[in-house]
Amino acid sequence: MSDSKIIIALDYPSSEAALDLAKQLDPQRCRLKIGKELFTRSGPQVVETLVGQGFDIFLDLKYHDIPNTVAKACAAAADLGVWMMNVHALGGADMMAAAKESLGNQSDRPLLIAVTLLTSMDQTTFDQIGLQGSITDTVLRLAKLTDDSGLDGVVCSAQEASQLRAQRGENFQLITPGIRPADSIQGDQHRTMTPAEALQAGSSYLVIGRPITGAENPMAALEAIENSIL
Ligand code: C5P
Repeated sequence: MSDSKIIIALDYPSSEAALDLAKQLDPQRCRLKIGKELFTRSGPQVVETLVGQGFDIFLDLKYHDIPNTVAKACAAAADLGVWMMNVHALGGADMMAAAKESLGNQSDRPLLIAVTLLTSMDQTTFDQIGLQGSITDTVLRLAKLTDDSGLDGVVCSAQEASQLRAQRGENFQLITPGIRPADSIQGDQHRTMTPAEALQAGSSYLVIGRPITGAENPMAALEAIENSIL
C-alpha cells in the first residue's frame, strides 16, 4: 500500500489507455481513481488488473440507491480489492450505515466516503430540486450526517476543506479534486487550489487528473507535485 496523498484520476475511455498510463507510474508513489466512464466501458477487470499491479484504487462510482442495493454494491467493490469507494450522502443515513456495515470492521477494510453535494450544483439547481438553505450549510450538514453514519470522510472542494476539518476533526478524510499545480492550466475547473494550498486547508488526499495524465512525462509531473508538497 502506498502512503501517497495523490490520487490520479484515470479518466479514460478504454482499459488500454488507462493501463498504458499506469505502466508509466509507480504504485508506491500514487493511487488511482476509476470513475464511471472507464468502469462502464471496461468493467471490473481493469480494477482487478490495477489492484494486481499493486495500485490502491479509489472506485468513484458514487452509489445512490436503496440501502440493500448500495450495501451489496459496496461489498462487491470490496471483493475487487479496492482501497476506497463512495456513495451519495443524499441517499440518507440508513443507506450510508448499510453500506458501511457491508464492509465489516477489519482494519484493512476499504475506506468508505460520501459525496455531499456535487460541485457542479449551483443555487438554481439546488432550488429546483427543492433543497432548502444555502449550499455551504447543506454541505456541512451532509458531512455531519456522513460522519454520524460511521463513514470515513467526504469528497469536497478544497475551498470547503478548512471549515470541514474544523467541524469534523482530524480523523475525517477530506478528498479534494479541483487541484491545479501553480504552473498548469485550469481547464474547465474553477476556483482551483494548488496541491500545497489544499493540504494546508486540511485536505487528506488530492485528486489530480489532467495535470498528470495529460503531461508528456506523467511520472515527472507527479514528481514535481511531490516536491511542491514536501
Ligand atoms: O483532470 P482533473 O484534475 O480536472 O480531474 C479531476 C477529477 O476529479 C475528475 O475525475 C472529476 O470527475 C473529479 N471530480 C471533480 N470535481 C468534483 C468531483 C469529482 O473534478 N467535485
